[in-house]
This record gives sequence, C-alpha cells and structure tokens, in this order.
Amino acid sequence: MTLDSNTVSQYPLPALKNDLLLRTINRLPITRVPIWMMRQAGRTDPLYRQLREQAGQTLEDLFQNVEHSIEISLLPKRLGVDAIIIFQDILTPLTPMGAMFHFRPGPVLESPIQSKEKVEALRPIDPVSDLPVVGAIIKGVRKQLNQELPVLGFAGSPMTLAFFMIPGRSPAGDYSTIFCFIEEQPALFQQLLDTLTTMTIDYLNYQIESGVHAVQLFESFGEIIPRAIYERFVQPSHEKIFSALHSKTPSILFVKESNYLDLMVKTGATVLSVGKCVNLQDAKAQTPDYIIFQGNVDNRTLLEGDKEQITAAVKACFAESNKERHILNLNHGLLADTPFENVQHFVKIAKQLGTVEK
Ligand code: CP3
Repeated sequence: MTLDSNTVSQYPLPALKNDLLLRTINRLPITRVPIWMMRQAGRTDPLYRQLREQAGQTLEDLFQNVEHSIEISLLPKRLGVDAIIIFQDILTPLTPMGAMFHFRPGPVLESPIQSKEKVEALRPIDPVSDLPVVGAIIKGVRKQLNQELPVLGFAGSPMTLAFFMIPGRSPAGDYSTIFCFIEEQPALFQQLLDTLTTMTIDYLNYQIESGVHAVQLFESFGEIIPRAIYERFVQPSHEKIFSALHSKTPSILFVKESNYLDLMVKTGATVLSVGKCVNLQDAKAQTPDYIIFQGNVDNRTLLEGDKEQITAAVKACFAESNKERHILNLNHGLLADTPFENVQHFVKIAKQLGTVEK
C-alpha cells in the first residue's frame, strides 16, 4: 500500500481530545510527538502496588477483576501519557484454550504443551463468551476516559505464547526445549502456531469491536530468534494476523531488539516498535514513508540512570527520528524496579522536548 501526499487520513480519526498518537499514525500534522510506555500499567507504580496489596488477590484473579483492571489501566493517565494500554496479560487467552496457568510469580502452566495430543486438545476460543472480562475492561476504560485518550489493545504473538507453552513456564534464558521442539517437530510446531494465530485474530478483532483504537502485537523474544526461523514461522504468522484484523484499525508490531526490518514491513503493520539495535534515522530511510516507528529509549536508562541521563537519552532519540514518523516509547517494557520518579521525569521531559514547530 502506498499513500500519496494528498492522502488526508489512512484510518478514520475518532474525535479524541488528545489525538496525537492517531494523528501521528495517520501522518497528519502534530504539535508534539506522542509518548506512552510499554508496561506502563502496573509494575513500577506505587499506587498499583498499594492496590495489589489491598486487593490481596493473586495476579490471575486481579486480571479477572474488571473494576480493578480498569483502575490500573488508567493509573498512567496522571503521568501525562498520550495513550492508555489495558491492564491484562498476553497469557490471558490461554486459559479458555485449556492451557491453564498460575503466576508464581512468573507464569507456570499446569502442563507443558509438547505432544500432538496436547496441541490438538487446545480449544478454539469465542472471545465474546470466553473472555467477556476483556471487553468489559475496554468498555469501562473508554467510558471513564470520555474520549480523552486513545485506548490500546494487545496480544502476544503466537511465537511468544509458544515460548511459554512449550516449556510450561517463562523460559528464563534457557531456550533449548523450544529450539529442539522446533527442529525435531516442525510440523507440530507449525500446527501450534496456526492454532494460536487463529485465536489471536479472533481475540484482537474482539478487542477492536469492544472499542480499542489500535492494537499492538508483542514479539517479546525477538532478539533470540534466528532469521531462518523468523522467516519461516514468525513473519508469516504476523502477516496472517495483520491482514485479518478489522481493516480500519491501526496496528503496532513490537519485536524485541530485532533488526529484521524488511520482514517487519512485510507484515502490514503500520507502526513498528523497535529496540536499541535499530537506528531510527536509518530505519526510516530503509522503509516506505507510511511506516511509523515506535521506540526506542533504553529501559535500563530509566532503571539505572539519573534525570540528566534520561533527558540525554530522550534528546538522542528525537535527534535520530527528527520527531517525524515517531511515537516515543522504550526499547522494551518498563523494568519492575525502575524508580517511579524516573518514569515521571521521562514522560515530562519527553513532552517538553517533543514539541514540533509549525
Ligand atoms: O503494558 C502494560 O502495562 C499492560 C499490561 C501488560 C501486562 N503484561 C501486565 C502484567 C502487558 C502488555 C503484558 C504483556 C506480557 N506479559 C508480555 C509481553 C510484554 C513484553 O514486554 O514483552 C509477557 C512476556 C508477559 C508474561 C508475563 N506476565 C510474565 C513473564 C510476568 C511475570 C514477570 C514480570 O514481568 O513481571 C507477567 C506478570 C505481569 N503482567 C505483571 C503485569 C503488570 C506483573 C505483576 C506484578 O508483579 O504485580
């Protein structure tokens, strides 16, 4: 798809008080570069920690609690971010598929998915009846925002979900079980990905029908996937997903610290969320100009750096992007121990430095 310079809007522009993110995606003039952060809901926020303690619920129960999930999704609004991502987890849809898990504290499946029987036992989901909580959270967040900010939905990519399902828990640096499975049983692995791809399409379309303004797909183990495996299994699943989404909704593809930009462009996603290994200036030069980039300030600078270092990192990021075709974000999600004052400073300085001259 190519857009000529006369194109006003690639996607319909909903009437939002703050439409910076959607204007950027539509390549319309903006007054400031939009900013939000992956993993902004929860984790580093003291109010989230307080709420978790008071709720006294397991994480999986908290994700099922519509009222609390709405409240947690909205907590980052007070930071001044330009988008709200809903509080859920990428693993949420595994439960209705029959792959039950608990957070201890990372996710642990009741049983790893490694045999043909286990893959074939995974049930297709009907999000309307299996995941009504997610629709209720989206509707509740939208209602409380009252058209103030865009709402983002998301899903884990089939490969990312498989990275948890095959070992039955977070791989925690040991990927041997997964890569052996792919090498020894490629047809069964493809079958698992196909099942997850179908589920993801239904799940994201359900989120769109429930009211999200854009969706992000998380390829969270991007940095350790060899190109041959990425080309054969990962890229085709992304392409299937993005081509099956309700058309008028912008889509964001996040691939953690991977520079397979040519394969990312071919998926049909409008926004590519990239890591530190990608130079935004080079990336823009290499891609068609309807592609918008999201990223890529190092999350470790927010964890370990002081205010000056965070300011310098934001400046350097804007210098690379020239504040064009850019949504400011991190290279990956906020790290749990990041001081909240650093998160606050990051958003504040990003908004100060992100203004665009008319
Ligand atoms: O971005 C957001 O703030 C929205 C909410 C969100 C959560 N998980 C809530 C959560 C999102 C987008 C996710 C996605 C997710 N979940 C990913 C992909 C994201 C990425 O950054 O690549 C992955 C790999 C998971 C799986 C997962 N969830 C793990 C491994 C863990 C435990 C370790 C950890 O990172 O904290 C979780 C728990 C989880 N999901 C928390 C939150 C807020 C932590 C909850 C807590 O500690 O109280």
